[in-house]
Parts: sequence; structure tokens; C-alpha cells
Amino acid sequence: MCLELQSIYKKFKKFSIMDFNLKLQRGEIMGLVGTSGSGKTTIASILLRLLNPDSGNFYINRKNVYDLKRREFSRIVQGIFQNPARALNPRKRISFLLKEPFLVHGNFPSDREISSLLSALSLPREVMEAYPTQLSGGQLQRVAIARAISLNPSYLIADEPTSALDPTVQIQIIDLLLKLNREKNIGLLFISHDLNQVFYISQKVAVLSEGIILEMGNTEEILSSPHPYTDFLMKGTATTLSEVKGACPFYGTCPYAKEICERKLPPLKKIGKNHLVRCHIM
Ligand SMILES: Nc1ncnc2c1ncn2[C@@H]1O[C@H](COP(=O)(O)OP(=O)(O)OP(=O)(O)O)[C@@H](O)[C@H]1O
Ligand SMILES: [Mg+2]
Repeated sequence: MCLELQSIYKKFKKFSIMDFNLKLQRGEIMGLVGTSGSGKTTIASILLRLLNPDSGNFYINRKNVYDLKRREFSRIVQGIFQNPARALNPRKRISFLLKEPFLVHGNFPSDREISSLLSALSLPREVMEAYPTQLSGGQLQRVAIARAISLNPSYLIADEPTSALDPTVQIQIIDLLLKLNREKNIGLLFISHDLNQVFYISQKVAVLSEGIILEMGNTEEILSSPHPYTDFLMKGTATTLSEVKGACPFYGTCPYAKEICERKLPPLKKIGKNHLVRCHIM
């Protein structure tokens, strides 16, 4: 099974996603990394059908996703977000919030199903009686993940799922996502601005800048010969990206920039077995 975006374009007033391609297999973990405003949430929203692209294709198992009913689609692809509290009705107890996805799809979960969900998510039984405001951020994210996986989706789109959490809790959530990916064969798109987390969790990584993929490939291949922009991000320096349309977005800061980098956005080219870069000098 495979989820695929092909040549996606999406234009806002001052921003556009350009020619975005992605292929996520079931059981695989892919990371999408980029600084704030690079277009990560736009991509996540397209993948969750919260936003329609202007053009391009979206397939699951080579079938056009837009031919699926939303309900069918939501059984296959689910999302988790930075602020889990936003998706949880504060007036409902956790016991209801855990049952809700089943009910929405016309199923009545057994106590056993709910118990196994709690234990898979390492949530204590006591949370069942609580309201969302009584839980910690980490517990709320676990509840959100429980809801997302309750109907056994094939793919999980995780948009900055750790960004609002304390560092120790971030690691717990990452380990939980790794476990769910392994045990339930979920295809995970892990979106973050944190390069370390993305490289730690992902087998493949895509690096986004200004709505453009600058590098994409196997984690090891990228780490062994990163794009100048990725290298720059890894060193943790702040970036000022070029405003010049048509240029490589990194040309203003890139230590290797040549004259052509200012004039022409490089095409994505293959430089390794599973490694694509958009760079004139590589
Ligand atoms: N509905 C919209 N209308 C107009 N512009 C939008 C809309 N949604 C997003 N944008 C713009 O698109 C750009 C990319 O936004 P997006 O939220 O995808 O970035 P991001 O990488 O998720 O950033 P962050 O790390 O801050 O979450 C931003 O400049 C944003 O202002
Ligand atoms: Mg975002």
C-alpha cells in the first residue's frame, strides 16, 4: 500500500507550494522538515483533505483519493497535531472522547477495545473519568493519538506532534509513534521543524524551504552528503532566505552559491540510490 502526492501546486497570496511530490509506503516513517512558514502544515492539510491543491494528483494505492467518500478516506488517513486540546471537546470526559471515533463510524466499542487502546497508549485507567483540562499535555497527545489510531488507519499524518511538549515528554511521544508504526504497520509522516527529531525517527526525509523540496531521500544518504541548506540547518544557524523569485531559496546565504543559483531554481536531480537534491553545485 502506498500514499502518493504527485506534482502538487497550491498558491496563497504570498506563498506557494511548488511541484511537491511524496511517496509514503505503509509501515514506513518519513520525515518532513522545514523552518516556520516553509509550508509543512499546508502539505499536512492537503494530505488530510482539509485543503484542496490547485493542481496535482493524490493517490492511495493508485486510486484517486478525491473519488473516495470523506468517511472512507478518514478510515485510511488520520492526523495528529501540535495542540491536541483543540481537537478535544473540553466538556466531554476522556471515556467519551475515546469512544467517539468508533461511534462516528457506527461502531460500539467493547470495554476490551477501549482497555487495549489505553494500554497501547500507556494511559492509566483513571484518565477515563477526567476531562481534557485535567490532563497533562503529554496525556492529551496520547488521547489524540488513541483517537487517531482507533479505527486502524493505514497512514498517520503527524504535524509537529511534539512541538508543544516538554523535552522528556517529546521523547516518550516519539517512542510511542515508533512503537505504533512497528506494531500496526502504520505509514507515518512525521512533520517537524526539529531536524534531530526528524532524522532520529525517519527512514526517509524531505527538506522543505519556501514551499519547495530542496532535498529528499534516505536518512543515511542525506546525512552522509547533505544539501547545503540541510547542512546549514543541522548546524543550527538562523536563515534569511532569498526573496528573489526564480532563485534557489537558499542562494542568499549559501556559502557555495554561484551566479546561476540567483537566476534559476535548480531541478530535483538524483545524486544517490535514494537521494534527490535541488542544487546547482552538487
Ligand atoms: N489559508 C491561507 N491563506 C493564505 N496564506 C496562507 C494560508 N495558510 C497558510 N498560508 C501561508 O503559507 C505559508 C506556509 O504556511 P504553513 O502553515 O504551511 O507553514 P509551516 O511550515 O507549517 O509553518 P509553522 O512551522 O509555523 O507551523 C505561510 O506564509 C502562511 O502564512
Ligand atoms: Mg505548521
